[in-house]
Amino acid sequence: MELENKVALITGAASGIGESTALMFAKEGAKLVLTDIDEENGKALAEKINKDGGEAIFIKADTSVPSDSEKSVDAAINKFGKLDVAVNNAGIGGERLPVGELNTENWDKVISINLSGVFYGMRYQIPAMLKNGRGSIINVASILGSVGYANSSAYVAAKHGVLGLTKTAALEYSAKGIRVNSVGPAFIKTPLLEGLDQESKDQLAGLHPIGRLGEPDEVAEIFVWLAGNRSSFATGAYYPLDGGYLAQ
Ligand SMILES: NC(=O)c1ccc[n+]([C@@H]2O[C@H](COP(=O)([O-])OP(=O)(O)OC[C@H]3O[C@@H](n4cnc5c(N)ncnc54)[C@H](O)[C@@H]3O)[C@@H](O)[C@H]2O)c1
Repeated sequence: MELENKVALITGAASGIGESTALMFAKEGAKLVLTDIDEENGKALAEKINKDGGEAIFIKADTSVPSDSEKSVDAAINKFGKLDVAVNNAGIGGERLPVGELNTENWDKVISINLSGVFYGMRYQIPAMLKNGRGSIINVASILGSVGYANSSAYVAAKHGVLGLTKTAALEYSAKGIRVNSVGPAFIKTPLLEGLDQESKDQLAGLHPIGRLGEPDEVAEIFVWLAGNRSSFATGAYYPLDGGYLAQ
């Protein structure tokens, strides 16, 4: 198993990419701290993993609240004694409006969850990993971390910010044993896209040279690689996973 004896914290684990990641990490032998604001689905997922022979706890935590991020890391240490891997995955889409019409409160909300939330996570994950002298942090960005997308300015700005934050943390901590990378999925079939009608989904699918949307499991696969020892030389990088979206 790729992640045997590793303790991994996954934010936004109750749904979509985070849920797929939790299930795949459990299969690969990781012990899991799952966090989310969605207590019902988060708890149910932890129970399912434990029932199937894995080890997982759920902590209700909002990534936009620094003390919640600290609490999540403390839970990993108290329950499992260390933290090896963090997947900073929680994120929201935000209002779909052009810059000149976007509500400033919505801007603040998206930035606080999608960008500050990643900083708050690393702020507490890194000191815990330094105690062991190793770790792997995976920050979930997006293809929209490197290109624009109309009517999604806060999301696009936050995801571009995640790339910069990732590179900087990698410069600071790679020599101390902590690898920090970001992943850029294109459009993936998760509840995040639920608001869209079928026509819009078909249109979105057509933006990918591969001719379809991605599956959450296809994203979780690269997280397994980044979390495990086989990616030992990978740090400071941005890995698009996009069905060819950025090749155009
Ligand atoms: N689905 C896509 O097309 C796509 C593409 C690129 C990147 N991403 C990124 O992948 C990540 C996961 O997205 P998804 O598609 O699985 O979405 P999702 O909506 O299925 O899951 C997101 C999870 O995050 C949780 N969450 C929301 N706000 C939170 C907060 N403040 N604190 C803690 N948890 C919170 C939600 O409750 C939910 O369980 C996000 O960062 C998203 O931006 C998604």
